[in-house]
Amino acid sequence: MQTIPIGPGFGAEVRGVSLLDAASSAEAFAYVEAAFEEHSILLFRGQEVTDTTQIAYSRGFGPLELGKVGSRSAGSFLGVISNIGDDGSLLPPEDNSWLVAAANQLWHTDSSFLARPAKASVLSARTVPATGGETEFCSTRLAWERLSPARQSELQDLTVEHAYFHSRDMIDPNLMTPEQRAAMPAVNWRMTWRNPKNDRRSLYIASHAGRIIGMPDAEAKALLDELRAHATAEGHTYLHQWRDGDVIMWDNRACMHRGRPWPADTGRKMVRTTIKATDADGLAEVRPPASFAAAAE
Ligand code: OGA
Ligand code: MN
Repeated sequence: MQTIPIGPGFGAEVRGVSLLDAASSAEAFAYVEAAFEEHSILLFRGQEVTDTTQIAYSRGFGPLELGKVGSRSAGSFLGVISNIGDDGSLLPPEDNSWLVAAANQLWHTDSSFLARPAKASVLSARTVPATGGETEFCSTRLAWERLSPARQSELQDLTVEHAYFHSRDMIDPNLMTPEQRAAMPAVNWRMTWRNPKNDRRSLYIASHAGRIIGMPDAEAKALLDELRAHATAEGHTYLHQWRDGDVIMWDNRACMHRGRPWPADTGRKMVRTTIKATDADGLAEVRPPASFAAAAE
């Protein structure tokens, strides 16, 4: 079992362990889990991944999240991100899947808008386009560590409002149904997330972060834009070009990611499982001070 670095200071390819090994051997799992906590992004190549293997692997890391209300994967552990219809044909440009793809192209972290956000996501490539369709990652842990101690102390305990509508409304105010709006009210989180396993802190920001409690909206927006630009600055990201059989697991507490465009006449299908954060993952500390906690529950 070994790890080979892939990104600028974060991310590693895992060799000599498959998803199935990690799902069936305690020793392989312990190796992969330690690598995940350290590198934030793990790449597995050449996997013969099935839905069952992906779920079995993901379950080892914690409880799985169900698909969102009103989405294609509602009620399932498997989130399908695809422009290919059930009959195998390409979905037309007006299909909602293209708006979903556009929203995924904003820098984000998965499910920060849920009352129980995601610790990790596991994404497997099922149909890969010949060009484009990459996924790009940055480390919000390294971004935090690049800030001066004075800046860190100003930011560390700010309370940030996250909502699915903050990111979706940037793409199209009609992207969310009234049912989805009602099901996903805004939640508040501290601006930083400390991982109790290694005592390292990350900026917890995303396209879903829209406001800062106690700060005028324009100032909050400028600060969030500045921090997102800082985290994703040139030279600090890893662009993954997908190959058949690739699986990537990322730490939503310590990274942001975004999808990249691909030609509209080409199919792309990815399947995601998502692992919920628990207090053992540092969630308790990310809850904001008591006066704001009501909104987060
Ligand atoms: C995701 C996601 C981007 C992509 O699965 O959470 O943002 O490139 N995917 O498909
Ligand atoms: Mn995502």
